[in-house]
Amino acid sequence: MSQRIQFSHPGGPEVLELVETTPADPGPGEVRVQNKAIGLNFIDIYVRTGLYPAPSLPSGLGTEGAGVVDAVGKGVTHFREGDRVAYAQGPLGAYADYHTLPADKVMALPRAVSFDTAAACMLKGLTTQYLLRQTYPLQGGETVLWHAAAGGVGSIACQWARALGVRLIGTVSSAEKAELARRNGAQEIIDYRRENVVERVREITDGAMCDVVYDSVGKDTWETSLDCLKPRGLMVSFGNASGPVEGVNLGILNQKGSLFVTRPSLNGYATTRERLEAMAEELFAMLESGRVSIDIAQRYPLSQAGDAQRALAERRTTGSTLLLP
Ligand SMILES: NC(=O)c1ccc[n+]([C@@H]2O[C@H](COP(=O)([O-])OP(=O)(O)OC[C@H]3O[C@@H](n4cnc5c(N)ncnc54)[C@H](OP(=O)(O)O)[C@@H]3O)[C@@H](O)[C@H]2O)c1
Repeated sequence: MSQRIQFSHPGGPEVLELVETTPADPGPGEVRVQNKAIGLNFIDIYVRTGLYPAPSLPSGLGTEGAGVVDAVGKGVTHFREGDRVAYAQGPLGAYADYHTLPADKVMALPRAVSFDTAAACMLKGLTTQYLLRQTYPLQGGETVLWHAAAGGVGSIACQWARALGVRLIGTVSSAEKAELARRNGAQEIIDYRRENVVERVREITDGAMCDVVYDSVGKDTWETSLDCLKPRGLMVSFGNASGPVEGVNLGILNQKGSLFVTRPSLNGYATTRERLEAMAEELFAMLESGRVSIDIAQRYPLSQAGDAQRALAERRTTGSTLLLP
């Protein structure tokens, strides 16, 4: 027997329950992973609340983890039992001792990368990879605005931007988070609970404003973010921590300077095995060179997944959070 977190209807953290299950045997093309560590992500909250509805109920939760291959399905040639692996895509159900998923979504883990580090950064780090290197291929010298700069994705982005020679202006909600983002490489910090973000960006950039804004806060920051862009700048709206952006009149992009906007996701970039491998290779290289290190600031037993999600939703976390089976 093993344990997994599941929920039977959308709701608050209290709908998450720890249940005993028999881990699914891997079907053709699948592997079963014995998780050593599981990553907590804001998207897990969107799924739990029903903003992103689970395909069926009751449902498992989570898509990020690292561990050891425990069983291999027919036709899988690139993994064997005992291999160290990590993953960030595939079916819901990573919040568990064992997770069965398509082998194509699983990456071999280099020796130098621990299970904890991998589980804390596969989703967040691959997201950072595509946002900084593909959505807008930053060359160095650009100025970008990044909301929630002390969070899980934000902490990785600050370091990666520094490595690329990009000036990253980060927004945060507290002095402690400001300090953290600065240590990670944010060149300028704005406390968006106390300061006027547009005015501060204008000051910092001498009126030039930003090439790109990375906005995962959503509803609360949408218009502010558009106002922080240069003419023809790129608005990357990649999350909804404060609620989804809805009812946009496209005319606003014209009024604010012929802006571009995109709403990307990891699944739209890691669309093939080859693309996923190339992205993961780059992430692992950043980790192995020390240019990016993963701050695991919170650890919870799997049984306390609800408490972990509550802390994330209430903005009490920084960096990455792990659930430990
Ligand atoms: N599209 C993709 O491919 C993709 C992939 C991964 C993650 N994401 C998105 O990236 C964002 C960050 O994910 P994460 O897991 O690393 O989370 P996180 O950044 O560690 O946590 C979310 C942060 O958002 C800020 N925030 C602002 N308004 C908030 C509100 N009303 N409620 C809660 N938090 C609020 C908080 O930072 P402050 O206290 O500093 O404001 C909070 O700590 C999420 O929106 C997530 O959905 C998107």
